Amino acid sequence: MADGAARRVVVGVTGGIAAYKVPALVRLLRKNGCEVKTVLTDAAKPLVGAEALRVLSGNPVYTDDKSAHYDMDHIRLSEWASVLLVCPATANTIAKMAGGIADNLLTTLTLSIPEENIIVAPAMNRVMWANRATRANVEALASRGVTVLPVGEGELACGVRGPGRMAGTEEIVRRVIELIDKADTVDVACGVDCVNTSDNLINTALKGKNVLISSGPTEEPVDPVRVITNRSSGKMGAALAGAALSMGARVTVISGPASEPLPVGADVVRVRTAAEMAAEMGGRFAEADICVMAAAVSDYRPVASSNTKIRRSEKGNITLELTPNPDILAALGAVKKPSQILVGFSLESGGGVERAEEKMRNKVCDMMVFNMADTALGRDDTAVTLLFADGGRESFSTMSKAAAAKLILGRAAERIDSSIPKSV
Ligand code: CTP
Repeated sequence: MADGAARRVVVGVTGGIAAYKVPALVRLLRKNGCEVKTVLTDAAKPLVGAEALRVLSGNPVYTDDKSAHYDMDHIRLSEWASVLLVCPATANTIAKMAGGIADNLLTTLTLSIPEENIIVAPAMNRVMWANRATRANVEALASRGVTVLPVGEGELACGVRGPGRMAGTEEIVRRVIELIDKADTVDVACGVDCVNTSDNLINTALKGKNVLISSGPTEEPVDPVRVITNRSSGKMGAALAGAALSMGARVTVISGPASEPLPVGADVVRVRTAAEMAAEMGGRFAEADICVMAAAVSDYRPVASSNTKIRRSEKGNITLELTPNPDILAALGAVKKPSQILVGFSLESGGGVERAEEKMRNKVCDMMVFNMADTALGRDDTAVTLLFADGGRESFSTMSKAAAAKLILGRAAERIDSSIPKSV
């Protein structure tokens, strides 16, 4: 951003249920130094409070109510704005933008602003998102220079699961600021000072870095319907992926079968067994600046698994012979370059922090996150102790997994270019 230039964002809100997130987004934009004006379509009005937007943006809310003001608003707003963010963008508004239709203030504004200064955050039902007309419209906008943010997968407002969720608020704000500031560096805030609220300054500590995360459990088949697995919700891995994205990283998640939705913007590779996870992690590790093994890898697998369902009535008691799975983290530690930061998790039920220290040494990690199963498994929060190969140790009381994830990645980011010896 040029010295003295303001980040001026017009947020155009259309009639998707995700409009309820816009007040928080406006607040976050302002926390990050943006001036904000909002435009509501008629369909958006019942879904988001105009008064809330007026107070939070500190500016009048622009609508199609011509009796209030319709004084070449689209031209004035287009001259004022550094960026127009259409958020949420419904299939209908995307279609109008693709077709150049200007039948309300917002769509008229989209015609009055250079396309490279427009960001669209789609949100809709998965069938509407998959519809070929929508696909073609999205492609048309992208080919003309509009930034179309990816949608996420997960539970949608209509109750079904699938792609169509709007990108996360922090990710949207980061993309807006990046577009305004182009290649310039924006404010960096990382570490414990910025883990407590969702109103943080956008953190670019991992801008341009590759973060590789393993998440969830693995499953080892006993037969086609039975598996040996570990308890894991995938919440910590999802939180780490969200935090890494919000810090500007390129994020790849190798995920076992977990139900927790992974954030928009992460490359997700689904695996089932520890061997599959080992192969996917091993194949990508060389490119990673930070690698976090948050997965609960199943330690053993059956020596042989049955191709057909084992029949209880025929077998009675059975004995499964188990063999240890490869230790993925230790294998990565063995080939780690000094410039890479390798982070392990040590979730214990009885053992203390010494056990985590021992794992950090044995697996050649730079950091180990120690927590206790009864205060972490399946929960949205956790208390962590961070152990560092360079000797430090920090203990934190219970916080959300999102906050813990930012803390962990903030500490890892500090170590990427540090001259401190990274591992023994
Ligand atoms: N891990 C791994 N591959 C395995 C087992 C564990 O990569 N086969 C990783 C986990 O993802 C975690 C770290 O190693 O980051 C520690 O996992 P944990 O289960 O606590 O340790 P183990 O080495 O399996 O020891 P134990 O289960 O006996 O405590």
